[in-house]
Amino acid sequence: MTDTAPAARANGAPKRLFIKTYGCQMNVYDSERMADVLRPLGYAPTDQVEAADFVILNTCHIREKAAEKVYSELGKLRMLKEEKAGALTIAVAGCVAQAEGEEIMRRQPAVDLVVGPQAYHQLPELLTRTARARGERIGADFAPDEKFDALPVARGVDGVTAFLTVQEGCDKFCTFCVVPYTRGAEWSRPVAAVLAEARDLAARGVREVTLLGQNVNAYDGEGQDGSPSSLARLAHALAEIPGLERIRYTTSHPNDFTDDLIAAHRDLPQLMPYLHLPVQSGSDRILRLMNRKHGRQKYFDLIDRIREARPDMALSGDFIVGFPGETDRDFEDTLDLVRRVNYASAFSFMYSPRPGTPAASMAAPVPDEVSRGRLHALQALLVQQQVGFNASLAGRVLPVLFEKKGRHGRQAIGRSPYLQSVHVEAADHLIGRIVEVEIVSGQQNSLTGRLIQTPAADEVSPFQRRAAGAL
Ligand code: SAH
Ligand code: SF4
Ligand code: F3S
Repeated sequence: MTDTAPAARANGAPKRLFIKTYGCQMNVYDSERMADVLRPLGYAPTDQVEAADFVILNTCHIREKAAEKVYSELGKLRMLKEEKAGALTIAVAGCVAQAEGEEIMRRQPAVDLVVGPQAYHQLPELLTRTARARGERIGADFAPDEKFDALPVARGVDGVTAFLTVQEGCDKFCTFCVVPYTRGAEWSRPVAAVLAEARDLAARGVREVTLLGQNVNAYDGEGQDGSPSSLARLAHALAEIPGLERIRYTTSHPNDFTDDLIAAHRDLPQLMPYLHLPVQSGSDRILRLMNRKHGRQKYFDLIDRIREARPDMALSGDFIVGFPGETDRDFEDTLDLVRRVNYASAFSFMYSPRPGTPAASMAAPVPDEVSRGRLHALQALLVQQQVGFNASLAGRVLPVLFEKKGRHGRQAIGRSPYLQSVHVEAADHLIGRIVEVEIVSGQQNSLTGRLIQTPAADEVSPFQRRAAGAL
C-alpha cells in the first residue's frame, strides 16, 4: 500500500474511475471491490468514459468473442487517451489479463498496466509505480488469500441485493474451458471472513446475497471451529444473520452437490428455490469428451433428489453446442435432456475453441453453420420453456423483494424467489422490503404483479435509512 498516490486532480476535483465489466458475476464482484480499494485514493466512480482519469477493463476469456471485444475497446480508449493528451490511465484486469497479459502490452501500447484477478489489492501501489514507468504486468501467480485479506470489509453498497465471492478457481479441467488457467486452483474464503462481509452488507440494508464461486458448491472454507465447512454449513450460518432474508449461490457443479446441500434446501427458507446447475450436454459420449466426469443419468437422479427436497425448485443451466465430434444424435440427446428437466431459464453457447485447452486440438470440429442451426433449435426450446414457466406463475402469490423504481409512473421492480423481475404498481417506500404480490401475468423475461396488501409507510427499511445518508 502507498500513500503517495494523487488523491485529487490539480483543481481539487476527485479523480474519476470508469470500470467496464465483461464476463461472469465474479467479475462484477471484483469490479466493485476494485472501486473500493481505489476510493481511499480519491477515485470516484463515473459512468461516462469520456470523463474518466482512470479506465479499467475487467475482461473475460471464456469465448473468443469475449476476448476479442477487449482489443476493439482498447482501440477506442487509445484514441480517447490521445484526445486527452495522455491524461488517461488504462488498465486491463480480469481473465484476459491473466491469460494474455504480454500480448495485450504488445498489441496495444496505450495500456499502462495489466493486472490479473488475484492482484487487485495491489492496484494502488501499481498506480503510483505506473506514474513513473509504464508497462507493469502483475498477477501471474495465484494468491487469492492475500487479495481477500487486503480488501476492506466495508464495501460500497448501492442496492438491496449483493454478490459475495466465497470461492474462486477450478480444479475440474473441462476440456473446453479456460477458467482453471485464468483463475487458478479451487480456493475458499474462511467462514469468519464471509460472515463479516455478509453482516456488514445486511447492516446496510442488503436483504439478498448471492454467494459466488466458479464451483461454489465445492466450497470448503475454514470453519469457526477450525475444520472445513461445507456450503450447506455456511448457508446455515448466514441464515442466522438478522435482516438477511434471501440466500442464493452460483455456479454449482453436479459432482459437488452433496446431500447436506440438498437437505439445506429443505430446511432453510432463506435458500431461494432457483438453482443454476450447468450440464453442458445431454450426450454421455460428449460429456466424456468434455471431461465432465458424470453422465446424464447422474444429472437426472440429482435433480430428482433436489426436487424431492424442494418441489418448487426452478432450474437453470448452461449448454454448449458444436463441441468437437458432436453428431446430430448427440445433439438430440441434449434436446431430450432439456425436455425432461424443463428449465426455468438457461444459457446456450456455440463451442469456441480456446488456446491451450485440450478440446481445441480434438478431431472432428463441427462446421459453424451446423453449430448455429443447433444453437437456434436449442434456444427455441429453452425460450418456450422459459415462457411456459413464467406463464405458469400467473395467479400465484409470491414474496417479492423490491429493488428499484420502474421506468414509468409509480412502478416498482422487484425480484421473485425464482429470480425473475416483477413489475408492480407500488409506492417507493416498498423498496428494500419483501412483500406478497399476486402475479397477474408472465412474459418471456419478467412477471407483472399487483399488491394484495400495502404495508404501512411508517416503518422505514434499512435501505431507505442508507439512501437518506443515515447508514
Ligand atoms: N463453472 C461453471 C461454468 C463457468 S463458465 C460450470 O462448470 O458449469 C460459464 C459457461 O460458459 C459454461 O458453463 C459453458 O457453458 C460456457 N463455456 C465455457 N467454455 C466455453 C467454450 N470454450 N465455448 C463455449 N462456451 C463455453
Ligand atoms: Fe470451466 Fe468446467 Fe471448471 Fe466450470 S467446472 S469453470 S466449465 S473447467
Ligand atoms: Fe470469463 Fe473469467 Fe468469468 S473467463 S466467465 S470472467 S472466470
